Amino acid sequence: MPTEQSAIESVLNETRRFPPPAPGEVGAARWLIDSADAYRAMYERSLADPDGFFEEVTADLHWFRPWERAVEFKAPDAKWFLGGKTNLCYNCLDRHVENDRGNEVALVWEGEPIQPNGQPEIVTYTYRELLREVCKFANVLKKLGVRKGDVVTIYMGMVPELAIACLACARIGAVHSVIFGGFSSQAIVDRVVDADSRVIVTCDGAWRRGHVVPLKENVDAAVNELQASGGAGAGSLLRDQQIDYVVYLKRTRNQIVWHADRDYAWRDLMVMADEWCPCEELDSEDDAFILYTSGSTGKPKGIRHTVGGYMVHTYLTSKYVFNLIPGLATPKRPDPLPDGQLFWCTADVGWITGHSYIIYGILAARVPSLMYEGAPNFPAEDRFWAMVERHKVTQFYTAPTAIRAFMKWGQEHVEKHDLSSLQVLGTVGEPINPEAWMWYREFIGRGVCPIVDTWWQTETGGHMLTTLPGVHDTKPGSCGVPFFGVDAAICDEQGNEISGGGGLLAIRKPWPSILRGVWGDRDRFVSTYWTKFNVDGALDNGDGVSPYYFPGDGAHRDPDGYFWILGRVDDVINVSGHRLGTMEVESALVSHPSVVEAAVVGMPHEIKGTGIAAFCTLEPNEMPKDAAGMDRLRAALTAHVAEQIGAIAKPDQIRFTDALPKTRSGKIMRRLLRDVAAGVQQIKQDTTTLEDFTVLARLHESKES
Ligand code: WT7
Repeated sequence: MPTEQSAIESVLNETRRFPPPAPGEVGAARWLIDSADAYRAMYERSLADPDGFFEEVTADLHWFRPWERAVEFKAPDAKWFLGGKTNLCYNCLDRHVENDRGNEVALVWEGEPIQPNGQPEIVTYTYRELLREVCKFANVLKKLGVRKGDVVTIYMGMVPELAIACLACARIGAVHSVIFGGFSSQAIVDRVVDADSRVIVTCDGAWRRGHVVPLKENVDAAVNELQASGGAGAGSLLRDQQIDYVVYLKRTRNQIVWHADRDYAWRDLMVMADEWCPCEELDSEDDAFILYTSGSTGKPKGIRHTVGGYMVHTYLTSKYVFNLIPGLATPKRPDPLPDGQLFWCTADVGWITGHSYIIYGILAARVPSLMYEGAPNFPAEDRFWAMVERHKVTQFYTAPTAIRAFMKWGQEHVEKHDLSSLQVLGTVGEPINPEAWMWYREFIGRGVCPIVDTWWQTETGGHMLTTLPGVHDTKPGSCGVPFFGVDAAICDEQGNEISGGGGLLAIRKPWPSILRGVWGDRDRFVSTYWTKFNVDGALDNGDGVSPYYFPGDGAHRDPDGYFWILGRVDDVINVSGHRLGTMEVESALVSHPSVVEAAVVGMPHEIKGTGIAAFCTLEPNEMPKDAAGMDRLRAALTAHVAEQIGAIAKPDQIRFTDALPKTRSGKIMRRLLRDVAAGVQQIKQDTTTLEDFTVLARLHESKES
């Protein structure tokens, strides 16, 4: 029964709305779905008759053996497309080649460096060419002993070989674990150990803003640490972990150390590899990949996705949310660039966004995918817009943090370029502030391109809440309505729907690409996602599992049924559109010899949306005597966090204090620290459980610099 009570306050009062463009208004010949009635009919059928709905929409995809039942669910375990046999790589590549599309462009890649001729390097692959490279690398992996179900760690820059490595794993049923190239060697150690991975694919280095990120060196440091602790024998935290092979692609030609016992150059292996590798006929529920993401406690968790459901959901969302139409007539491009639509997602493949919307969903939908190697401001702040113009990009997908940076850099960088090829704009990663949304629409979208604000997570595999470009009015700051197969609601902790105001976002039914688990940690899977909503007392009886999925976000739904995400409700901070557990940053700080205890919270940040504020108590006598000493310690701690996790986790603010506010039971009261970090002078919150009241007063004095 709906209740009126509102669990979370929502403050945004945004009333602007924009209708979908008329046919022809943005250059697209047509919209795949162009009426609210058509959307509603498909949506309702997707929930009421999943077998019928998914049979129709998955008919374009290839199944070695057709599935028999769409879904089977006993919380928390969902299975999709039962009995089906298929393969992601086959559907991204072979299927198009079989259908006589082998000569169409699949991937367009642009490198970061500007060559002596003043142009960047551009490489294109047709489906046939990509298939050949993927087959070769699949054979390389097999030669290295990789079998179905083995985890292959991929730690590379944004080069085509990254996509090739992923697809090669998918082809033979190996499970890839891509680690974002911005993470440190410690992050590699943690993930390799957790996944029990024995092969790492990397690059000598990656280009980023004109500099080389030493990827191979980071891998070496990780492998050396693994070997050192592996030798420590029983009792070692790291178990007996051995990396057998490191395959490295030479991209930046920086100096590397070569280890004869394990290092192999990508090209040396590829020249010897066979050009054909048969495709493994995988079960729908076989593992496709794992991808690590942060939680509020403990080390990052390896989110498990399986073959059939992930394929179907990323394909469907790519097609309908971005309105991908293979062969749609568009302005002519110079050779060797393809005609038709060209989709560009600016994310890194190290995040789920890149997995789903640079590689799998887009290739499956048969529209060429543009992949860019480097930074948005190299060699200048107009790089993205120069690229949109050069490649005549039709769909552009980025993050609010990037949009805020573009705004700050100024619209003159945009106005230098012809962006008239753009048809649909997308945003993902965090709530977008209406001001940034309006700027995006006006300056990038010429005031006509529809914006799709897609809410989803690493765990959901693909879009969950969004508008469809030819269907829905858009509202700045709202992510819209549920996609096909998604039953979303705002609930209280009993699982009752809340009709007015904010509450917890709940997904009440499984969808095809729902995470299947946390790698090697069943308890964490259950406790993180399936113990929030006590629907009909489900948590109190039996196995204590909720029938609803808990994403960890607060949200509210307006009278039109549009969702507005209010942000995380747990101790996870969303920095530049990516989740970081406060606990990870805290452990990194505490591992520095000067720090005794640390508490980390999010704080408002102009570009990143949320920045990181750290409160540290120090060892006796470690408190610096003067401001210069404090700055030195801050710099040292910042560098330490970057080394432990990666630059993305660097605190924006570090304060030293002699005590942290705690409850009587010793829990750090982060909600109070959030106010302190945000500069709230008068704390109006409930402080009755605070153990030592003077701590708060002293914290306010622990000014930032
Ligand atoms: C969290 C997931 C999905 C790929 C990028 C991040 C926040 C994501 C939106 C959006 C408001 C959003 C949520 C979510 N988030 N998209 N359109 N509007 N918030 O993936 O690292 O798994 O983070 O990002 O808080 O739970 P992720």
